[in-house]
Order: sequence, then structure tokens, then C-alpha cells
Amino acid sequence: MRGWILYKQRPGFSRPQSHGINRLLEYAKNNSIDLDYVVSESLDLNGPYPDFIIARTGPYTSLLDLEILDHFKNKGVRLINSPQSIKIVNDKFLSLKVLAENNIPVPNTSLFEPSLEINFPVVVKTLSGAQGKGVSLCENKQDFKDLLAKLRGEKILVQEFIESSAGRDLRVFTVGGRPVACVERTGPSGDFRANFSLGGSVKSYPLTDEIKELAIKTSKILNLDVAGVDLLFAGDHFKVCEANFSPGFASIEKCTEVNIPKEIFDFIKN
Ligand SMILES: Nc1ncnc2c1ncn2[C@@H]1O[C@H](COP(=O)(O)OP(=O)(O)O)[C@@H](O)[C@H]1O
Ligand SMILES: [Mg+2]
Repeated sequence: MRGWILYKQRPGFSRPQSHGINRLLEYAKNNSIDLDYVVSESLDLNGPYPDFIIARTGPYTSLLDLEILDHFKNKGVRLINSPQSIKIVNDKFLSLKVLAENNIPVPNTSLFEPSLEINFPVVVKTLSGAQGKGVSLCENKQDFKDLLAKLRGEKILVQEFIESSAGRDLRVFTVGGRPVACVERTGPSGDFRANFSLGGSVKSYPLTDEIKELAIKTSKILNLDVAGVDLLFAGDHFKVCEANFSPGFASIEKCTEVNIPKEIFDFIKN
């Protein structure tokens, strides 16, 4: 089995720096899987072709990356995930719209335009982003004005603040549409965002039937072979916050025994 990881090079580094990619490479090496890491800018499109490509380009996925993935898809290369799905999940508004249309509970969300009436507090997000970077909470009109000035016309969505989830959420990891792990993340003190990369804490959380069903449906609707589904605590139930197509798993490996690379490669093999 021969595969590539498509990734984004960080300035000053000639190899991947991300925990997830390095874990995938390490697992492949120990299990006789021929796995290389590549960037779109220096790829030979004429072959030989790999059997599969795992896209780990996250929110930085470019049009070129999507075109490259499309090219290899047409050559019969197995893609995790497909450029069609990546395009949808890298737009937080579009993906929530698709989920809502399919009766998945999501926070009330609107694309911002100046005539929109806003109830505060409100969560504001840039349409693409990760690690909590483009996500803010505005308590009032002045906060919102200040934020708009900082964002300089970048497209944003405004979203109902799910207060019962302030500072914590769930991350469910699915492979082949099947939930394999669930962790509760708690953000750094005072922050309403629970992203692991912001320096919060994490603990294993039971995969209840409700959580499983939401994660399975979300992965299926968005057609994601590997997904990180974020769930917000909404009273006694949950709302889907977002889905990621190249989710990190440092948080999961920190508090569960689940071997994510093994899950992913076993899925690709079968
Ligand atoms: N509507 C919301 N209500 C309460 N908390 C939220 C809401 N949206 C996001 N959060 C918190 O902010 C975090 C980051 O938001 P998310 O949409 O997942 O962006 P990112 O792609 O940066 O992870 C979430 O993990 C969650 O803890
Ligand atoms: Mg998230």
C-alpha cells in the first residue's frame, strides 16, 4: 500500500510539524505502509500514482490543493477526504446549512450582513478557521463593532451563544463514518472556547447513543471518511458546532487508548 499525506509546509521547515501527521508517518513506518508527505506546489501529476492520499491541509487548503485532489480522484486514487467534502466543511456557514437542512441540531446561525439584527451575546466566526482562532464572543454592540474593525471586511457568521457549553465541548473522532473516540475538552480558564490547542484540559467521555448518532449522521451527510465532530452541550442534549476533515488527535491520545493511525489505516486497507 502506497500513500501520500498532502500537507501545508510551514515557512522554515522542510517536514511536517503537526502531531497528527507525524503520528501517521510513524505508524506507517512501523507497519510497512509506504507513506510520504507531499505539497501541491511540487507534485508530479503524471504518476506513478499512490493508492491513497490523506489530505491534512486543514483550514489552509488552497484552490490548488482542491484541484490536485480532484486530479488524483479522477485517476482513481482513494482520497481521505474528497475535495467536494473539504470545500463544504471549510466553510463553517455552508456546512452548518447543509446539516440544518438534514435536521441535525445546530446553533442558530446567520451569515453577517450590515442590516442583520443581532441579539447579544453572540458568537462570531470567520467562515474558515481552526484552533479557535477565528472565533469570538461579543457581549454587546461595541464589542461587535470593535471586532468588525479588526476583521477588515472578512466574511463572518454570527451564531447563537450556547451558554451551557461555555468553556467546554465534546470532540468525537469518526473513521469510515464510525465514532471511535469521544473526549470532553475544557478551555483555559475564562475562555468560552474549548479547543485543545488553546491549552485547556481533556478527559475521556462516554460515547452515548445520542452522541454516536449525531457523529454518524454528521459524517455521513458531509461525506467525511475521517472527521472530528465538535458537539456543544445544549441543556440535556447536544448541538453540532462544526466538523473538521483533517482533525488533530493529540487530545484523544492524551486520555484514551484509541490508536487513531491504526483506525485510519485499517479503514483504508478495507
Ligand atoms: N455557538 C457557540 N456557543 C458556545 N460555544 C461555542 C460556540 N461556537 C463555538 N464555541 C466554542 O468555541 C470553540 C471553537 O469553535 P469552532 O466553531 O469549533 O471553531 P474552530 O474551527 O476554530 O475550532 C468550540 O470548540 C466551542 O468550545
Ligand atoms: Mg472546532
